[in-house]
Amino acid sequence: MDFSSKKFFLAPMSGFSNSAFRRLCVKFGADATVSEFVYSRAVLSGAAAVMKKISFSQEERPYGIQLFGSDPSEMAEACSFLEERFSPDFIDINFGCPAPTAVCAGAGSALLKSPDKMVEIVSTCSSALKRTPLAAKMRLGWSERSIIVPEAALLLEAAGARAITLHGRTKLQGYAGEADWEMIDLCARSLKIPLIGNGSAEKLSGDDMRSSACSGFMIGRGALGNPWIFENMKRRMEGQPEIVPSRSERLSAVLEFAVELCSESIDGVSEGDFTRALPQILAFLKGFRGFKDLRRALSGAKTLSKVREVLTEGENL
Ligand SMILES: Cc1cc2nc3c(=O)[nH]c(=O)nc-3n(C[C@H](O)[C@H](O)[C@H](O)COP(=O)(O)O)c2cc1C
Repeated sequence: MDFSSKKFFLAPMSGFSNSAFRRLCVKFGADATVSEFVYSRAVLSGAAAVMKKISFSQEERPYGIQLFGSDPSEMAEACSFLEERFSPDFIDINFGCPAPTAVCAGAGSALLKSPDKMVEIVSTCSSALKRTPLAAKMRLGWSERSIIVPEAALLLEAAGARAITLHGRTKLQGYAGEADWEMIDLCARSLKIPLIGNGSAEKLSGDDMRSSACSGFMIGRGALGNPWIFENMKRRMEGQPEIVPSRSERLSAVLEFAVELCSESIDGVSEGDFTRALPQILAFLKGFRGFKDLRRALSGAKTLSKVREVLTEGENL
């Protein structure tokens, strides 16, 4: 996996970065994708639902599987398992999830309070991997009074991380407020390994991207309903005009996404149950003329054929 050369990554997003969405984003310009996070113990259980969540098709490469946990040896064992079973292009360790379930288990962003534990996890996991690079995704720190970068990132580099993604917010900020791109840049300049910047990256100007020391940018919420963001960010970086997808292009992309979601059963969305996919489908239609009517019709559409019918009629609303 080559992390250098200004790559644009689709962020891991639990409940959203499924295989169908990853494929759509690659089609519209994403250079690399990452799975939603999976818990080390759940990986080792081999549970079908977990395996399904991280399964991928070759078009999604370069593809990373994201792991979270708190027990270094269990996480190392899960890394070996993932390497043997899936051969991903990289494995990414989550040091940023603010969800209470992760934090209460001493995983995700809870680890931002213990850089030594982060180091132990990265060191144990990278030693367990034979051929797969280990990356880590972290936030600035737990709160603005306990910022741990760039020092902790440097420690992870020394412990064997081959790339770091830095979300420029603290755990206490959650997903709100501005991401600190000055701090991201400082961190990128401090490290020898590539740093991927994350946090409302879709707002960066062409100049910001060109002058950034980041070797890549990761986009999360800005890609929901808008897979064109990847192509557009590349265009912006190159000083070219951005594309504005037409209504019919957006409708056909969302229909393609809906069909893909149930085409290979990787994502566990069956033709007969679209309920789980609704928020993701609606994200494509935000700001549409007739959005309220479309939302009402889609909320009652439980099957692929009904979704197809509503979206096809949506052309004429
Ligand atoms: C619904 C949702 C689910 C997320 N799930 C994950 C996850 O599984 N792993 C992870 O590292 N980050 C997760 N994140 C955080 C994103 O990867 C990203 O760091 C964050 O949204 C900031 O990027 P953005 O401002 O481009 O959205 C999630 C974010 C959202 C909104």
